[in-house]
Amino acid sequence: MALKINGLGIMPEDTRICVVMVGLPARGKSYIAQRAQRYLKWLSVPAATFNVGNYRRTNAPHPPANFFDTNNAEGERQRRAAADAAITDMLKWFKSGGVVGILDATNSTKERRKWVLERITSEGIEVIFVESRCDDEELVMANIRDVKTSSPDYVGQDPEQATLDFRERIRNYEKVYKSINEDKDEDHLTYLKIMNVGKQVFINRIQDYLQSRVVYFLMNLHIRPRSVWLSRHGESMFNLDGRIGGDAKLSHRGEEYARKLPELVRESVGSDRPLTVWTSTLKRTIATARHLPKHYNQLQWKALDELDAGVCDGLTYQEIADQYPEDFAARDEDKYNYRYRGGESYRDVVIRLEPIIMELERSEDILIISHQAVIRCIYAYFMQKTQEDSPWVPVPLHTLMKLTPRAYGTELQTYKANIKAVSTWRGKGSTAKHEDPSPEGGI
Ligand code: ADP
Ligand code: F6P
Ligand code: PEP
Repeated sequence: MALKINGLGIMPEDTRICVVMVGLPARGKSYIAQRAQRYLKWLSVPAATFNVGNYRRTNAPHPPANFFDTNNAEGERQRRAAADAAITDMLKWFKSGGVVGILDATNSTKERRKWVLERITSEGIEVIFVESRCDDEELVMANIRDVKTSSPDYVGQDPEQATLDFRERIRNYEKVYKSINEDKDEDHLTYLKIMNVGKQVFINRIQDYLQSRVVYFLMNLHIRPRSVWLSRHGESMFNLDGRIGGDAKLSHRGEEYARKLPELVRESVGSDRPLTVWTSTLKRTIATARHLPKHYNQLQWKALDELDAGVCDGLTYQEIADQYPEDFAARDEDKYNYRYRGGESYRDVVIRLEPIIMELERSEDILIISHQAVIRCIYAYFMQKTQEDSPWVPVPLHTLMKLTPRAYGTELQTYKANIKAVSTWRGKGSTAKHEDPSPEGGI
């Protein structure tokens, strides 16, 4: 059997999975689909979501609630056609190299699931159903107000009216909705059922490695409000010299940043709520964290250490260009994939950060104090930066970033300490010690 390696590990070359979402409207299906897609793409697993609502909108852009009544024959016909078009596109996408396709629709009847299963498995693609059930009426209403009133289905409509209409839409679905295996005749299906945002989960017939990884990730998702704070260490003696890697101490200004950090954190948290602090195992991040309040839990992770520059550790960019000119050029050519001799690439760093991301998904408020390349990789996960762009993102010293996950994306706020520091950003082709970052795409 031919094998391939990607960010999740080793798997058979022909592994292809379709994740079929199931559930009433406003149960977080699109949210779950987007999170899974973001995680997989960050790990270089080709993933894409096919949202049936988007296909339906081409013919029925603003359907009233009774469009979704199963007694409405025209509505039924159009919804089936939309599902069919989404599946057709997804199957084409699998043929062009897709690995995990996500079918984002309600799939709320047994008949629909049977039809979907047959269409997809007949192409040799595994199907895993992921159902979100939620009977918390207050949460459902909050979801409607948060995301549904701003859906393209309701552009230009009064949000109160939209909320009432959406509630009515859900009632039409409720008339025919069957939870997976509710009648005990869907036991042959592979499925994950998430009840009330993970209070309970049911897993049935999960078969292989990729399926179990996807399921494990989805089991760790939560929607409690929280933020993730990211900071580089204070300016180091190596930063002053323009040297990369190493385990140098903080400069005077770096020390000043460490003293200022507790205030900056308090300002951005907006309360005395304690954070958990994760640093790398290197002196400069540990020193940066050392003035934070004693009641903050602090943990050191080897996985948060800076990208290992191998034989180039301790050199300036100019020295690298002089001593290893081919490597210097190769890195600029493909910075994400270039691996330093005896060291790491950005791709390697992402792979070692996977447990950090999994833990972040499970956790609440966390402050991470780490290094330029590592922060770029974590930032890329949350902000969905491409592999092409992420290694070039300017992450200035003495700046705290606050990332707050929202329904469909991540909100970014930055807090400057106003303590001068050198720039360690380097543009393509440059060997400058302290170059000003490009204004575009900066944090
Ligand atoms: P759907 O696709 O099911 O119609 P959405 O994904 O558009 O619903 O709804 C998004 C909202 O659902 C977000 O506000 C998010 O916080 C919430 N949410 C996420 N996961 C769940 C879940 N497992 N159960 C209920 N609500 C959830
Ligand atoms: O210069 C600071 C630093 O953290 C180095 O230790 C590291 O090698 C470098 O940044 C990573 O940035 P780049 O990938 O742009 O060279
Ligand atoms: C939709 O049309 O918005 C939709 C989710 O479709 P379905 O319920 O048919 O999957």
